[in-house]
Amino acid sequence: DMGGHDTYMHKEISEQAEAVDRVLRGRIDDRFSTVHLGGLNLDAREARGVRRIKILGCGTSYHAGLIGAGLIESLARIPADAEPASEFRYRNPVVDPDTLYIAVSQSGETYDVLAAVQELKRKGARVLGVVNVVGSAIARETDGGVYVHAGPEVCVVSTKCFTNTVVSFALLALHLGRIRDLSVADGRRIIAGLRRLPEQIAEILQTEADIKKVAEEYADAKSMMFIGRVRGYPVALEASLKLKEISYIHAEAYPASELKHGPLALIEPALPTVAIVPDDDLLEKNRAALEEIKARSGRILAVAHQEQPKADQTIVVPKNETELDPILLGIPLQLLAYHTALALGRDIDKPRNLAKSVTVE
Ligand code: F6R
Repeated sequence: DMGGHDTYMHKEISEQAEAVDRVLRGRIDDRFSTVHLGGLNLDAREARGVRRIKILGCGTSYHAGLIGAGLIESLARIPADAEPASEFRYRNPVVDPDTLYIAVSQSGETYDVLAAVQELKRKGARVLGVVNVVGSAIARETDGGVYVHAGPEVCVVSTKCFTNTVVSFALLALHLGRIRDLSVADGRRIIAGLRRLPEQIAEILQTEADIKKVAEEYADAKSMMFIGRVRGYPVALEASLKLKEISYIHAEAYPASELKHGPLALIEPALPTVAIVPDDDLLEKNRAALEEIKARSGRILAVAHQEQPKADQTIVVPKNETELDPILLGIPLQLLAYHTALALGRDIDKPRNLAKSVTVE
């Protein structure tokens, strides 16, 4: 049942305010400025002993894991990174007893992720899951974890589950941070930011008509470049994946700082750039990248917290706490991909060559 929407993707994009509300519900502890994660199965003493965190997933879940690693590093100050689960598995990884492993999956059935979990378990590692489907294979095989509570996702490409997975990582990072060195004041600041998300998501969704107009202007592009820096880079990766999956427009994502090391050669009027330009400590650096692109006559669509004078268009997104900004910056880009694909007449819920859950190697 599409509930009045033309596609499941549109329905699922539109459900994100409620979905985020659901993942927060019952978990916030105002007394200690932290969160409770019932199924985590990692006590405070164990959490203090974690020296590194390695996050494994595929596709969109991998991108959510990249943002998750950033959240863990900034809130809990534990070195963290994310890697595609298949790459990890094929390189005979060194499994370290002080590393906490986290498998991320919407379906909980993705073979490459499951195989990585099984290999880690066999080598004696502690593996948690950040999973949407309750009771799925990955949920069963991990030692504990966080349920994402996005609700059923039917469209082949992931939208609301991506958002809820990132929010789940914010909860986990806050929880670990408050057991370690995150102050009460910072805990309170993040909790207040999390509570603002549903309303801000609703605000973004109300600008859909404007995003649709922008999408129609860019739908004739043969290829698009997505750039971002630090927190913005995984947002660029995810936006680029979403666009190519459903519109079949070729897209690439680069860290903004890497442009000058090669891809700048591609910039010309026919190759538009979508730039993630949040109002944070990197704003001036990001603006400098826009200038480099403009100097080569590149078209620029900025996704930012305020109008960007160097950009041809800006999609303005509400500001939250810096750590949580990637959650909101990603949402208009889902709509951008959606309306581009719609303008091109694509089969949005069932893109060619793709399946909802990839249970083969
Ligand atoms: C992209 C997409 C895929 C999945 C990937 C992992 O929109 O849906 O990239 O994210 O196949 O799937 P899960 O999260 O079910 O393990």
